[in-house]
Amino acid sequence: MKSNNRSSINTLIKKHQEGGRSPLALLQDMQRTLGYIPKEALKQASAVLQIPLSKLFSLATFYNSFSMVQTGKHLISVCHGTACHVKNGSALTKMLGRELGLQQDEGTTADARFTVKKVRCLGCCSIAPVVKINDTVYAHMTQRKINSVLKKYQKK
Ligand code: FES
Repeated sequence: MKSNNRSSINTLIKKHQEGGRSPLALLQDMQRTLGYIPKEALKQASAVLQIPLSKLFSLATFYNSFSMVQTGKHLISVCHGTACHVKNGSALTKMLGRELGLQQDEGTTADARFTVKKVRCLGCCSIAPVVKINDTVYAHMTQRKINSVLKKYQKK
């Protein structure tokens, strides 16, 4: 872990220790600040804040908005919920993996520009299949549409 990440984690834990805020708020701050939630940060928070590690771990793995692996600059979440699945959402994941040169359907590109992740229902089934890039949701996604969307993010 980078030393600036270690320093950020210490600051966040201290802030939560003083403010008596919820474990969920701490994890949200870690995700927002670091871009992911390192295992070491959970262990440290558990020890300092006297919160069972199992509780922090189950919160960090339950919510789609948290990631325990370092993500690229742009997080591409491909919905694999039922509505998106029946509209061929899984083909989008395969196509993205191929297009971005990933070893598998999911993962992070070698240049750390993109991370592709399969997620459960994003809560907007009526516009399936859905792909979310960072905070923007793209509706009725097709392989052709996703190529043009990707081009925008390749320049950012
Ligand atoms: S199943 Fe994809 S948004 Fe609900």
